[in-house]
Amino acid sequence: MIFLKSGRDLEAMRQACAVANTVLDDVCQWVKPGVTTREVDQYAAEIIKSYGAKSAFLGYQKYPCHACLSVNEQVVHGLAGDLVLQYGDLLSIDVGVVLKGFIGDNARTIPIGGCDLENQKLMDVTKSALYEGIAKAVVGNRVVDISTAIQNFVETNNFGVVREFVGHGVGRSMHEEPQVPNYVDGKSSPKLRAGMTLAIEPMVNMGSPEVKVLKDGWTVVTKDGLPSAHFEHTILITESKPEILTCREKMALN
Ligand code: MF3
Ligand code: CO
Repeated sequence: MIFLKSGRDLEAMRQACAVANTVLDDVCQWVKPGVTTREVDQYAAEIIKSYGAKSAFLGYQKYPCHACLSVNEQVVHGLAGDLVLQYGDLLSIDVGVVLKGFIGDNARTIPIGGCDLENQKLMDVTKSALYEGIAKAVVGNRVVDISTAIQNFVETNNFGVVREFVGHGVGRSMHEEPQVPNYVDGKSSPKLRAGMTLAIEPMVNMGSPEVKVLKDGWTVVTKDGLPSAHFEHTILITESKPEILTCREKMALN
């Protein structure tokens, strides 16, 4: 079942997404070499609370942190802990919040302090792949058109796109239908309709696309140990252009 959003529900969805993006921005600005991922998570928790929202991740299938913090070869779902962020690390920050019953979900990879050219390219390609996908999120297309655009862009740039984790519909639940793969999986693919809200989230590896889950049951890492990047927006499909909802500028001033 795909839930189309309109009216009050869409208003709440917009607010949740604006808060999710504001929190992500604030956390990105705050992070610096020398802090631990636990401190980053605590900071995220404070900011989420200050907006009267809740983490959408904490407690989800027993996930133990407020944000997902994944460093270097960690792809997604990294757990906050004693790891001290070093100059040159890549940190993927995924923030999902619940506000007024709706969820906004977004993620971004940033360099800690600075980074080398190859890591910068990895982040640039992942972010651009996200926008290539969003551009295809229009009525008349199918989900697979988003997937195709992302996969083609990533592979043209000789990076590997992760298969095991996918984007998703998002609304009252974090994971609604449809799934939004970042590659062409050959399955039947729903038509896009106005009112659909999708979290599109390519995960891109510098080397092989293969990943595994660590013994902690959560942290996803690249099999080859090379770095990975992750960018995510929650978007709304409209009768015209797609609208990025996880946009700080949309934050209501009241
Ligand atoms: N953005 C991720 C997702 O959509 C965040 C989920 S993390 C979890 O799947 F810990 F809550 F699972
Ligand atoms: Co998501």
